[in-house]
Amino acid sequence: GAPVTTDVSALPEGQQLTLKWRGQPVYVSHRSKAMLDILPTMDGLLLDPKSDNTDQQPEYAKNEYRSIKPEYMVLVAVCTHLGCAPEFIPELKPQPFDPEWKGGYFCPCHKSRYDLAGRVYSGMPAPANLPVPPYHFENDATIVIG
Ligand code: FES
Repeated sequence: GAPVTTDVSALPEGQQLTLKWRGQPVYVSHRSKAMLDILPTMDGLLLDPKSDNTDQQPEYAKNEYRSIKPEYMVLVAVCTHLGCAPEFIPELKPQPFDPEWKGGYFCPCHKSRYDLAGRVYSGMPAPANLPVPPYHFENDATIVIG
């Protein structure tokens, strides 16, 4: 499939946009400082906090934020359990399915939870973090996926 390009200069903090790449939905989110600060505190709750499963992201996204620029997260929106699209629930506050919710992605099909870096919680049906597709920045605000 052809690469997909998007301009994120107008994407507000705390929001995301959805693209289509190779027939799959891809999320690009703009994480705030508060969201980024939470990520290192999540490790104890996660199955693969350091992204050691190298099938799930390119080498340049194997870092604390799973991204090239910390504020922009790029994820293939396909749950690693059975392929539903996880919902983006960025609010850093309790949710009906998790009284300690810190923002992230919730899969409506079988309730797998992921943090704001697409890292899956321990004990979920989903066996791996959401994939980070290959991507790069063409300039400050233009992301090319693929
Ligand atoms: Fe997401 Fe089953 S498809 S939890």
